[in-house]
Amino acid sequence: MKSSDPQLQGKRNNQRPQTQRPADTQDDWWKYGVIYQVNVRSFFDANNDGVGDIKGLTAKLDYFVELGVAAIALTPVFTSPMSDFGFDVSDYYSLDPAFGDLDDFDALIREANKRGLRVLLDIVISHTSVQHPWFLESKQDRNNPKADWYVWADAQADGTVPNNWQTTFGHPAWSWSSTRGQYYLHNATSRQADLNFHNSEVIAEVLNILQFWLERGVAGFRLDCPNLYTHDKKLRNNPARRNMAAIPEEALINPFEYQLQIYNQNRPETLPTLARIRRLCDRYEAALLGSVTSSATFEMLNIYSGSQEGLQMANIYEALPSVCNLPGLVDVVRTFEENCDQVWPYWMLNNHDVARLVSRWEGDHDAPRLAAIVLALHLSLRGTPVLFQGDELGLEEAYIPFDNLCDPYGKLSWPQYMGRDGCRTPLPWDDNLPQAGFSTHKPWLPIDPRHLSHAINVQQKDPESVLRRVQRFIQWREEQPEILLGSMSIIHADASVLLLLRKHKGGRLLAAFNVSYEPAEIELNLPQPPEVLNGHGFAGELRDNRIYLPPYEAFFGRLP
Ligand code: GLC
Repeated sequence: MKSSDPQLQGKRNNQRPQTQRPADTQDDWWKYGVIYQVNVRSFFDANNDGVGDIKGLTAKLDYFVELGVAAIALTPVFTSPMSDFGFDVSDYYSLDPAFGDLDDFDALIREANKRGLRVLLDIVISHTSVQHPWFLESKQDRNNPKADWYVWADAQADGTVPNNWQTTFGHPAWSWSSTRGQYYLHNATSRQADLNFHNSEVIAEVLNILQFWLERGVAGFRLDCPNLYTHDKKLRNNPARRNMAAIPEEALINPFEYQLQIYNQNRPETLPTLARIRRLCDRYEAALLGSVTSSATFEMLNIYSGSQEGLQMANIYEALPSVCNLPGLVDVVRTFEENCDQVWPYWMLNNHDVARLVSRWEGDHDAPRLAAIVLALHLSLRGTPVLFQGDELGLEEAYIPFDNLCDPYGKLSWPQYMGRDGCRTPLPWDDNLPQAGFSTHKPWLPIDPRHLSHAINVQQKDPESVLRRVQRFIQWREEQPEILLGSMSIIHADASVLLLLRKHKGGRLLAAFNVSYEPAEIELNLPQPPEVLNGHGFAGELRDNRIYLPPYEAFFGRLP
């Protein structure tokens, strides 16, 4: 079944004109198109209150068309007290007034579809805000109609929390409700109560919510942490991690890292629910992405995304370490390729939870050139590339003074951990305008003055800016079947150079990247040299069966 509304059908099927794209990429747009994660709060503020909104997004849709992305995935836009910036929802059927209303949303879908752009929503359903009416009812007593919608447990005999579970932000995962005389579970902050996915009414409601938005014309969802949906009914204690030495030192400030999350997360009981969500999305031909964060990521990826019953695409969190370098990234890609061949990955090298890549990249470097080469590498991996707002500008992590911090995680751990505000600041549109053209009002987070020289108006004028280079690369990528569809092998990798082979049908494409400020060479030793491919904007060369890569350059060639 498709949507029951023929008009919606027409809207959803509105295809972006297929330029030179290979013929076998007309279906499954989510596999081949680039997705852009929009941080709505910081994208563009149309009503000038300092917070980005849906009207602002609609006004700027041509930006995405020019960039060449297939879809935009919005950070949560539902009504929320914003104690975790939309990841604490108090009504799943309305937009937060800061972002607009349902009419604004419908207009966004209409305008996006006119441009052949799809819109995806971030569904944060593992928990709700403690201000959600369901929770307010649930906490009243133990007999109300919503009494079992959340995870409630008695105190231990000595009054302490039911077990040893920790939140991802690093404190006990239970908070006390004096009205009910019980603890409630929260895998995130105490303002975010976990729904009880053992309750069939909760699951039915989740499906209703998804259907409501599918009927409004969304093209898919990013499920936030689906592996956190269900908890162990027996509330067993998580075991300690056996290999503490494997945990990066900076993570040890968080007691969450001391445990293996096998009872509060990653439960097999989630899978039938996920299968029902997938079946619903399939009926609408909607894409289903999910971020699976776990202490056993690769195993969980296979479980959550390796079949027709799970996520179509899963994000690999290991690709977002706090310190990045090429060997680390290659290691994640290789481990993924070796262990998860049934999983279609969506690679993100930045997102709303981590510091910006150019600031996480180890050692000295030329930030814009590093950004351009790493983006080309990202866009050349097997899987769907998802860009995070600002990647295309090569923005560095913004510095946010303590007094301006908004992120609850940052407030808890500052200054050992500065929080996530530094990657969430407003997009710099115009270096000549107040607030960089994002708003005429003081924005919710300050704009780092270093971002002005990366503003969109500045980069649009410079054909060699990160923005123009990534735009050119996305356009070129659209015409390379091996990159869009092919298998991938790592032929060579060292501290600064990576050589990939992408194969599709008879085609074989070599992609070489140098991420350092030193030139590099790769000996090919091939009976016949590859045909040099142009049009991608990188300046690597082929001479006598050797690839020459100037600093931060790439080479692409097709083997005979
Ligand atoms: C997910 C989101 C993160 C949020 C957390 C708790 O991990 O990516 O931004 O804070 O869930 O809701």
